[in-house]
Amino acid sequence: MNAPFSLAAARFDRRRFLISTGAAAVAMGTAACSSDSSDLTRLGSRRVEPTSPLVEQAERARRFAGARTTTLNLRADARDVDLGGAQVRTWAYGDAVPGEVVRVQRGDVLRARVENKLPQPTTIHWHGLELRNDMDGVPGLTQEAIPTGSAMDYEFVAATAGTHWFHSHVGAQRDRGLYAPLIVEDPADGADYDDELVVVLDDWLDGISSDPDEVLRSVRDSGMGRAGGHGGMMGSDFPTSDLIGPAGEVDYPHMLANGRTADAPHTVRARAGQRLRLRIINAAADTAFRVGVPGTPLRITHTDGFPVEPMVADSLLLGMGERVDAIVTVPEASTPVVALAEGRGSHAAVVLRVGTTSSAVDTTAAAARLAGSGVAGSLDLVASERVRIDPGEPDVTHDLVLSGPDRRGNWLINDQTYDPDEGLPVRTGQRVRLRLRNASMMFHPVHLHGHTVQVRGRDGGGPRKDTVLLLPHQELEVEFDAVNPGQWLTHCHNLYHGETGMKTVLSYLD
Ligand code: C2O
Ligand code: CU
Repeated sequence: MNAPFSLAAARFDRRRFLISTGAAAVAMGTAACSSDSSDLTRLGSRRVEPTSPLVEQAERARRFAGARTTTLNLRADARDVDLGGAQVRTWAYGDAVPGEVVRVQRGDVLRARVENKLPQPTTIHWHGLELRNDMDGVPGLTQEAIPTGSAMDYEFVAATAGTHWFHSHVGAQRDRGLYAPLIVEDPADGADYDDELVVVLDDWLDGISSDPDEVLRSVRDSGMGRAGGHGGMMGSDFPTSDLIGPAGEVDYPHMLANGRTADAPHTVRARAGQRLRLRIINAAADTAFRVGVPGTPLRITHTDGFPVEPMVADSLLLGMGERVDAIVTVPEASTPVVALAEGRGSHAAVVLRVGTTSSAVDTTAAAARLAGSGVAGSLDLVASERVRIDPGEPDVTHDLVLSGPDRRGNWLINDQTYDPDEGLPVRTGQRVRLRLRNASMMFHPVHLHGHTVQVRGRDGGGPRKDTVLLLPHQELEVEFDAVNPGQWLTHCHNLYHGETGMKTVLSYLD
């Protein structure tokens, strides 16, 4: 396998990170007035609100004649779940973590009644869909959060095919069990595989060492990475990875695949020789995973739901919020699909059980084997012709400089924390270029709501995506056409980075 440029670029030195963390407070004063960060714009009264008729009009253009309606009842509630060895009380949609797979055809109308039985207000965000702005689920921007004891009906055309997911978008709720896969089937799919398997990855602490609200409080009180001792934080001992640098800041006792630990993994029957399409979703808050089937190459077909020119790799690095689809040919013996928690020395797995033997599969040995094999990054992929956005001269270019943590532990975009009244103005019909620059020592998966972007790689090629993993100090340009009016959150998909400020608004103005 070729060494992927986007990963080979960053080799990490833990000492360097600790030194610069220590120096952060000192450097702050100069960073705040450095001239290379663009400012965010005060958005004012000319914004296209989620309630605008323009939003309704864009939705009408997405409707297919004869589309079906899929109805869904989602009850967000406290629940006891078995993670495989660990019993926890958490918040979930229905009886299981992750919530049941939702599967629709592209163009179907999805009608979801969300009942809130939680002790906090909640919303749902439909991650990956280019949908109507008022159904995007961002509290304080596209809707008021659903109060405890109330319900809301979400209804929209699911126009974006692919492996997507949905999750709560309030506070630290996503770091509980409030997430589920959302598969939007593409009529063009199905020719090159026999069966499919959805694999949802997560880092877990809720109900064990702490809960996500407590972690968020400790992050806010003491600054990310600076909380000593327990309460879910790592203290000063950051795990580090060759690929991504500091691997995360929250100490998770468990890594899960389909809601199960590697000690008691989710097991599915498979046939030797069968071509299995894996749809892998990283639903973690603070953990990147390296995914693969040791000894069996992945034929990568999609990233974030969009087809790519097929690429073969031993494993792929997946940031939080990202998805990958890959086809594997099931080997003769039972084998695990492994997800290494990058830099953390732990893993999760789903076991493919082949034949009639029931001997245990050693996922730890498999994880070690995967760690020693090749790894690709999703930025190495190239969008298929039919979904590629042709290069064009941008009408507007915005810089997004990602930095932090500042003295108070906040993570910043263009030197400031989230303010829903400031952001990046665009107008309908414009070609938009975003210049993303990671000015920090941590990786950030940047997610754009309601749009998908064409990554401009080294030779102009690159994948089409909604979540882009930026390594420490990496710079990257992405482009898209502004064709979905409204107010769209853009943020780091590290939950604790987003909730301590690393969010902004892509704002359509009239
Ligand atoms: Cu998957 Cu704003 O998030
Ligand atoms: Cu981040």
